[in-house]
Amino acid sequence: MTAMTLDALPTPALLLDLARVRRNAGRMSELARAADVALRPHAKTHKCVELARLQVEAGAHGLTVSTLAEARAFGAAGFCDLTYAVPVEPGKFAEVIRLHEAGICLGVVTADPEVVEGLRRAAAGSGVAVPVHVEIDCGDARTGLAPDDPDAIPLCQHIANALPLRFAGLLTHAGHSYDAQEPAARVRLAEDERLAVVSLAERLRQDGVPVDVVSVGSTPTVKAAASFAGVTEARPGNYLLSDLFQATLGTCDVDDCAVSVLAAVVDCSRTRRSVVLDAGAIALSKDRGPVRWDARAGYGRVLDLDGVDLGLRVANVSQEHGEVRDVPDRWLDVLRPGARVRVLVNHACLTVAQHDAFHVLDDGQFVDRWTIHRGWH
Ligand SMILES: Cc1ncc(COP(=O)(O)O)c(C=O)c1O
Repeated sequence: MTAMTLDALPTPALLLDLARVRRNAGRMSELARAADVALRPHAKTHKCVELARLQVEAGAHGLTVSTLAEARAFGAAGFCDLTYAVPVEPGKFAEVIRLHEAGICLGVVTADPEVVEGLRRAAAGSGVAVPVHVEIDCGDARTGLAPDDPDAIPLCQHIANALPLRFAGLLTHAGHSYDAQEPAARVRLAEDERLAVVSLAERLRQDGVPVDVVSVGSTPTVKAAASFAGVTEARPGNYLLSDLFQATLGTCDVDDCAVSVLAAVVDCSRTRRSVVLDAGAIALSKDRGPVRWDARAGYGRVLDLDGVDLGLRVANVSQEHGEVRDVPDRWLDVLRPGARVRVLVNHACLTVAQHDAFHVLDDGQFVDRWTIHRGWH
C-alpha cells in the first residue's frame, strides 16, 4: 500500500511521517512541562502552519521564527505571539511595526544600541510596544553580547526606558552544541547556556530592571539540560522533525527522523557501480551534517519506500543529481531508471527550506499536502 501510494507522487518530493512528528512533539512538550518552562518552538524547522498547530495542541506557547515571511504566514493563521530570533536590522523595522499594527505581537532580538534607537524612532509614530530581547552569547560566538560584557546591563536599562519599546528579556542559543558528541559535553553546554542568561537576569533584577523572558534553546542542549532553574522558555526547533545529524549526535534515534525525500532513479551504471537519483543538492541540501563522526554520511541514507535502510548513501550531489556509489550487484539489478527510493536527510531544516510542501504520510498513506512558507520577505 505504501509503495503504491508513493509511486503516484512526482519526484523529488518531501515526505513527512506524521506519527513520528506527533511523537517528537509530545516528548518535547512533556520535557518542557516537567521542567516548568514554556515551550516556544523554533518554527524555522518546518515553516508550516499545520505543524505549528500540532505543536501548540501538544502544549507549545507561542512560536519562534527566523524570517518575516514566517511571521506573516503564522500571524495570518492566528499565531499572534511570535519571537523573531534573528537580529533585527533597520530594513525590517517597517514590517515589524506593520505586523504589530495587524495584531501580531512580534518580539525582536538585538545586541546593538543603535538598532534599539532606530526601532524606537520608527515605532514612536504608531506607539507600538515592540518587545525587545537582548541577545546573549553563551559561547556560540555568532551574535550577542557576552553575559559579563560591560555594555549588557546598560543596553537592557536603555531598552527599558525606550518607550514605546518594551524590554522583554534575555535570549541565548547554544548553536555550538552541534559540535559536542559526548553527552557530558552537551550537559555542560546546556548549563553554560542557562547560566549565561540566568546570571545576567538576576543582576538586572537587582538593579531594578524587570526581566520577563529568560529564553534558551537548541535541540541538543534542551534535551541534555540538567536544570532549567531561572529559565522561563525554551526554543528548540529541530526536535520536531529530527534528522541524521541529531541521530549521529545521539540526541534522537534514526526512527525518530520524520522527513525524507522521495526520489526516482534516473541513471544506473554497472561500469561506475553507481545509481543516480533525481534528488541532488537543491532537493536534499548540501549539508554534510554528521560527517565528522560518520565518514560515510554523505548527503543522506537511501531507504526503500517502506523506510528500510538499504545500506546505501548519497555520496555526492550536484544541483539535480544525487549519486549513490559502490552499489552492490543486488541493488544494481533493482534500482533501474524509474525505481523509487527515499533519502533520509542530514539536516531537516535546510532540506525543508528547499521545498514548497510536505507530503504527509499517515500510517504509510499519503493523506495531505502542507505548504512550507519559504523565502524571507
Ligand atoms: C536563535 C535560535 N534559537 C533556537 C534555535 C533552534 O535550535 P535547534 O534547531 O537546534 O533546536 C535556533 C536554530 O538555529 C536559533 O538560531
